[in-house]
Amino acid sequence: MTTVLPGHGPEAPGEAETEAFQAVFDAAVAADERIEPRDWMPDAYRATLVRQIAQHAHSEIIGMQPEANWISRAPSLRRKAILLAKVQDEAGHGLYLYSAAETLGTGRDELLDKLHTGRQKYSSIFNYPTLTWADVGAIGWLVDGAAITNQVPLCRCSYGPYARAMIRICKEESFHQRQGYELLLALSRGTEAQKAMAQDAVDRWWWPSLMMFGPPDDESAHSAQSMAWKIKRHSNDELRQRFVDICVPQAESLGLTLPDPELRWNEERGHHDFGPIDWSEFQQVLKGNGPCNEQRISQRRAAHENGAWVREAAAVYAGKHATEHTGARNGEAA
Ligand code: 3HC
Repeated sequence: MTTVLPGHGPEAPGEAETEAFQAVFDAAVAADERIEPRDWMPDAYRATLVRQIAQHAHSEIIGMQPEANWISRAPSLRRKAILLAKVQDEAGHGLYLYSAAETLGTGRDELLDKLHTGRQKYSSIFNYPTLTWADVGAIGWLVDGAAITNQVPLCRCSYGPYARAMIRICKEESFHQRQGYELLLALSRGTEAQKAMAQDAVDRWWWPSLMMFGPPDDESAHSAQSMAWKIKRHSNDELRQRFVDICVPQAESLGLTLPDPELRWNEERGHHDFGPIDWSEFQQVLKGNGPCNEQRISQRRAAHENGAWVREAAAVYAGKHATEHTGARNGEAA
């Protein structure tokens, strides 16, 4: 969308003007056009985007912890290189997403402060421990697999910078999912002990992966409005069902089972039925009572504090660089 916008003009818009801008915004969303940072948008749309993008960005950087736990213990140089690249990708995803939030007028410092003080959420999934090497495979296959299922539709999100960030993120997540699948396949075809380790990891990560899609539709506070704004394109339950349908044949190819005795194909629905999710566990994790909540946040805070000198040095360097450029423009020697 290319309309310009109140707030950038000499005066704040009046009521009639706001109504006109709202109409332009609604028409752009209805026509599947992108809303761009300098376009007018309703305050609630902006706030919803900041909330979702921030939660997403926080998930990317907190998600580095459970896997980084295994970098020093990867079983081969090849596996270590792959895992290092993956964890580094997640940091990059955080960067794109914090930058997308910045285009909405909310800085990274503010968002990180909200994460560190528990005022913003990150994905429930990262509050579970990585107990064995097979967990790295299960995270790749299931957690990154769930993330892709959820995030591919976000490439068509109505807000341009978020949608564009998601394109690259999804390509990288796709590599992550495949490396996880390949890791589990190697274990599944290995010794009995290796296969058992892979099965145990899948047993532990399956249900928390289904919770990643958020509460059931009838309890999802934001879904209806976010879908009307075309931020979300599908409901939580739709995406969860899509993920289950994708995973069942993949588990068969892996030679592993999914820990749900009620999982079966429903000819009538054309989907797999699956057993009830323990939503009380999900709520507990959201309240901070998951197995690793405290550890994740305290490590994040420590990393932030330990990185203070890098931020200071970068700011001084940027300041110096800016002065040099200004000096050069004014004809002074650098
Ligand atoms: N973990 C933590 N909080 C969750 C959650 C989860 N799995 N699912 C939902 N919630 C929270 C919501 O944020 C909301 O809380 P709030 O009102 O305080 O913000 C509340 O539960 C109600 O849920 P809703 O369904 O109403 O919320 P949304 O409409 O925002 O839907 C969502 C939730 C599907 C997660 C949506 O926000 C979304 O698609 N987000 C973008 C993707 C994302 O955040 N992914 C993180 C996954 S991990 C990842 O990407 C890293 C990769 O490396 C694997």
